[in-house]
Amino acid sequence: MQVVDYPEGPVRPEHFEVVEVDVADPGPGQVLVRNTWTSVDPGLRLRLRPSAPVGYFSSFRPGTAMDGILTVGQVIESRAPGFEPGNTVWHSYGWREHAVVDASEQAMNGIGDLRVLDVDNVAPSWYLGPLGAIGLTAYSGLSVAGALEHGETVWVSAAAGAVGSLATQIATRLGHRVIASAGSAEKVAWLVDELGVADAFDHREELPAVALPRLAPGGLDVYFDNVGGDHLAAALDNLRMFGRVALCGSVSDYESEPRVPRNLFLATAKHLTLTGFRGSLHLDLLPEMQRRVGGWLRDGSITYRETVYEGLAQAPRALADLLAGRTLGKTLVRL
Ligand SMILES: NC(=O)c1ccc[n+]([C@@H]2O[C@H](COP(=O)([O-])OP(=O)(O)OC[C@H]3O[C@@H](n4cnc5c(N)ncnc54)[C@H](OP(=O)(O)O)[C@@H]3O)[C@@H](O)[C@H]2O)c1
Repeated sequence: MQVVDYPEGPVRPEHFEVVEVDVADPGPGQVLVRNTWTSVDPGLRLRLRPSAPVGYFSSFRPGTAMDGILTVGQVIESRAPGFEPGNTVWHSYGWREHAVVDASEQAMNGIGDLRVLDVDNVAPSWYLGPLGAIGLTAYSGLSVAGALEHGETVWVSAAAGAVGSLATQIATRLGHRVIASAGSAEKVAWLVDELGVADAFDHREELPAVALPRLAPGGLDVYFDNVGGDHLAAALDNLRMFGRVALCGSVSDYESEPRVPRNLFLATAKHLTLTGFRGSLHLDLLPEMQRRVGGWLRDGSITYRETVYEGLAQAPRALADLLAGRTLGKTLVRL
C-alpha cells in the first residue's frame, strides 16, 4: 500500500493505492515474513502530511511503501540467526502482505524491532493490541505519566478504543474509580456493562464540560487524554489541586487545526502536572505489562475487543472508520 496524495481533511480510500511488486529474496541477516495482521492507528494520520510532528515517526512519502506500522506475520524464510521458518514475529513493515526484514534494524524506538512471539494460548493479533504497543501505551500512561496512587478518580477519553479500553480496565482493576467517555450509546453501554467502569458518558450527547461536574463532583485526580481539544480543556476545569494529565494523544486534532485549551493557566493555578508520553519509549515496561495484562486477560478480569477488516485493500477504509469513531476496541486488518 502506498500514499497517492496527502488528505486535506478526512482520510478517504482514494488517498491510497495497492501496488504489486516482486518480493525480494532475503539477504544475510534478513528474514522473509508473510504478514497476517497489520495495525490501524490514529497516529498514521499525523504522518499523512509533508512533515510529521517533530520527534514523531516520519511522514509517509507518496509513491513509497508505508514503513513504520506494527505488523504480525510468519517467517517463511530466514537468513538471520534466532529466526526459523514458522516463527510468529512482529515487525514494523506493515500495510503489505510480505516483508523482507533486517533482523538487526532498530525500528519505531525499538517497539518495532523484529521479535519472535510466544503464541501458545495467545491469539497472534493480541500482540498488536493488549500484549504489544497498545497495552504498553495504556500501562505506561497510567503508571508513569498518570502516576496513579491509591483509589483515585480517573477520566479516560476515547475509552471504547484500543488504548482507552485497556486504560479503563487496568485502572479499574487497580482499584481506581474510572469515568469513561466515548462517542455512541453502544460504546457507553459496553464500557458500563462489560468493562465495569464506574460511570460513562457519550461525548456526542453531553459535552465533557457538563458531564464531568455531574459524574465527578469532587473533581478528578487524573485525566488520561486520548482526545485533546475541548476534552483537555474540560479536564483542566475539573481536575483537583495537584492533579495529573497523561497526554497520550489528541485525536480530535489529527484531521483539523490543533486547538490549544484557552484555560491552560489552570495548570499553574492548580499545580497540575501534564506529562506527554510515548508507549514505545517505555520498552523496559514491556515484560511487566505483558505478564500483568496477559494474566488479567487469561483470568477474565479484563476483556478485549477487535474490529477486523479483511484484506490489505480495506486498510484505508479501516483508518477512515477509526478516525470517524466507527470502530470499537482495537482496529486491525487481517491480511
Ligand atoms: N502516546 C502513545 O504512545 C500512543 C500510542 C498509541 C496511540 N496513542 C493515541 O491514543 C489515542 C487512542 O488511540 P487508539 O489507537 O486507541 O485509537 P482508538 O481509540 O481505537 O480510535 C480513535 C477514537 O478516537 C475517538 N475520536 C475521534 N475523533 C474524536 C473527537 N473529535 N472527539 C472525541 N473522540 C474522538 C473515536 O471514538 P469515539 O467514537 O468514542 O469518539 C475513535 O474511535 C490517540 O490519540 C492516539 O494517537 C498514543
